[in-house]
Amino acid sequence: MKLFQRTLPLALCISALVACTADEPTSDVGAGDSPINYAMDPHSFARPEQAVATHLELDIHVDMDAHRIRGTATYDLRRRSGDSIVFDTDGLSVERVTLGDGSEAKFTMGERNFLGSPLTIALPEGADRVTITYSTGADAKALQWLSAAQTADKKHPFLFTQGEAILTRSWIPIQDSPGIRITYDAHVTVPPELMAVMSATNPQELSGDGSYRFHMDKAIPSYLIALAVGDIGFKATGERTGVYAERSVVDTAAWELADTEKMVKAAEALYGPYRWGRYDVIILPPSFPFGGMENPCLTFATPTILAGDRSLTTLVAHELAHSWSGNLVTNATWNDFWLNEGFTVYFEHRITEEVYGKEYNDMTSLLGYQDLLATIAQLDTSDHPEDSALHLDLAGRNPDDGMTDVPYEKGYLMLRLIESKVGRPKFDAFLRGYFEHFAFQSITTDTFKAYITKELLEPEQVDMDLDRWVEQPGLPPDAIIPTSDKFTQVDEQVARWEKGSAAKDLKTDGWGTFQWMHFLRHLPTGQTAKRMDDLDATFRFTASGNSEIVAAWLEQCVKNDYEKAYGKLEEFLTTVGRRKFLVPLYQELIATEKGKAIAKKIYGKARPNYHSVSVRTIDDLLHWTPEMAKTETAPAS
Ligand code: BES
Ligand code: ZN
Repeated sequence: MKLFQRTLPLALCISALVACTADEPTSDVGAGDSPINYAMDPHSFARPEQAVATHLELDIHVDMDAHRIRGTATYDLRRRSGDSIVFDTDGLSVERVTLGDGSEAKFTMGERNFLGSPLTIALPEGADRVTITYSTGADAKALQWLSAAQTADKKHPFLFTQGEAILTRSWIPIQDSPGIRITYDAHVTVPPELMAVMSATNPQELSGDGSYRFHMDKAIPSYLIALAVGDIGFKATGERTGVYAERSVVDTAAWELADTEKMVKAAEALYGPYRWGRYDVIILPPSFPFGGMENPCLTFATPTILAGDRSLTTLVAHELAHSWSGNLVTNATWNDFWLNEGFTVYFEHRITEEVYGKEYNDMTSLLGYQDLLATIAQLDTSDHPEDSALHLDLAGRNPDDGMTDVPYEKGYLMLRLIESKVGRPKFDAFLRGYFEHFAFQSITTDTFKAYITKELLEPEQVDMDLDRWVEQPGLPPDAIIPTSDKFTQVDEQVARWEKGSAAKDLKTDGWGTFQWMHFLRHLPTGQTAKRMDDLDATFRFTASGNSEIVAAWLEQCVKNDYEKAYGKLEEFLTTVGRRKFLVPLYQELIATEKGKAIAKKIYGKARPNYHSVSVRTIDDLLHWTPEMAKTETAPAS
């Protein structure tokens, strides 16, 4: 039985201004010039079945002082029916729209809701090109403008964009659905002392005049269009790979990411050629709201992966894996997000197993499983327990709400289960075929289910309930639970600590980041300040340069109300904007009245340093109101 219906209630369709008809096609989205049936995307105003933009020519100026992008977006169109085309916008000012022949086009901006506003352009017969002259709004959700003080080098301002899931529409008027693919060229002008890089072919040096040109000749979904501007340097880490970062960070970053080329080779050996030319990583300032973002050719990454011992580069394996799962074969709507992330986590583990070995992989798998259990438990008591299904129905909600550990870790466990049932060689052959078959296409969960059933599950007579995994919430009973010998050793030391051993007597020789994470996650509650002092004096968690260890430690400090660490907590929360670290810390804080007051005080100070993505989440968590900002901006003690 299907637990969840994907059909939208009619009232919702109308209120969201989404084209929604009874016979709406829901699968098999084509790329390029192939015949097309577009999936109904509840998070876009676009009506691709009438007209799609197939190529974008972006010509923009980035004003680092005014915090505004202004310019033109010119589109080549492919029309099928109707006399208009609809683009997504969010907070953009559209000055004018012209047609290919230079004549003015009539356009209207619809009412704004949480999806933004539809820009509808009237198209006379034969019109196949439009140019939109526009500028971005004051609080464009994709953009984070950083002052020089918020950067590592403190000399120049910095800008980066974050498109996924539905934020690209806040800096480019675009058909902003992952089911619609587009190629792009861009001409970007910036102050001459700064460099611009995009999810495309990139410069490796300053141009001198602040003018940069980019090409992306593969059809990609709009959420992968990305831009960063700053005083950026470049260093190669291999033939096709390299790092960009603020100048003082470049060498450190290149050392930390030295295994990138190896990872690309390992990935290719598994699932076929890397199709995007170069694979570079840009290390952004610490306010970047994610660990990483798989922008094609150029992964955007948080500096919190620079641990000094290469132990957190699994993030690069993950973003690299998206070059196949996500960027080559894309989720058609955000309801299908697990297709992007579940496959990517599986692929990531295969890469790290190749490069760092099985024990490493067992540890990261088990940490992921712990995250999954905690997330499912949280969802079970939330307003949306159904969100622990893989295939979601996010109509009427912000797609970000579905982006929990479930699509990642439950998706991964399902693929591992199938792998164990058919054996690696057959599963790998299936995946190679899957990436080849759907290359440069956006697909729905239904398309995936039909494909795997026909190509793998039926021929191999696999006994499993695919719909139980995909459509229903919770973790199915046949999940294979990851185990790790390395963690068993850690568990023994946790038990000794619990029985009263001093920290110096614990056997921790040779422990790496993941063992420490496991140790910290399993510290018994109710630790006295004295016991916490002992741990910190012996293992130097507060002073650790490893963000994962610091974050796990600080969580315990809050849990145990260990006041000595609150200075570090404030420093961490005001400098790091990575949502994955922020959420558990604020969550833990608001569990007590005392903590709530601390959370609000710190957040008042930290909020201006966060990207809109993190702001939205933490605002919700703390029930933040603008009035609080007025009263709570005093520095936390
Ligand atoms: N594509 C995601 C980041 C993302 C997800 C952006 C949802 C916007 C909405 C990226 O590939 C990712 O999963 N990043 C993880 C890292 C990873 C190692 C699991 C992150 O940022 O923590
Ligand atoms: Zn991912």
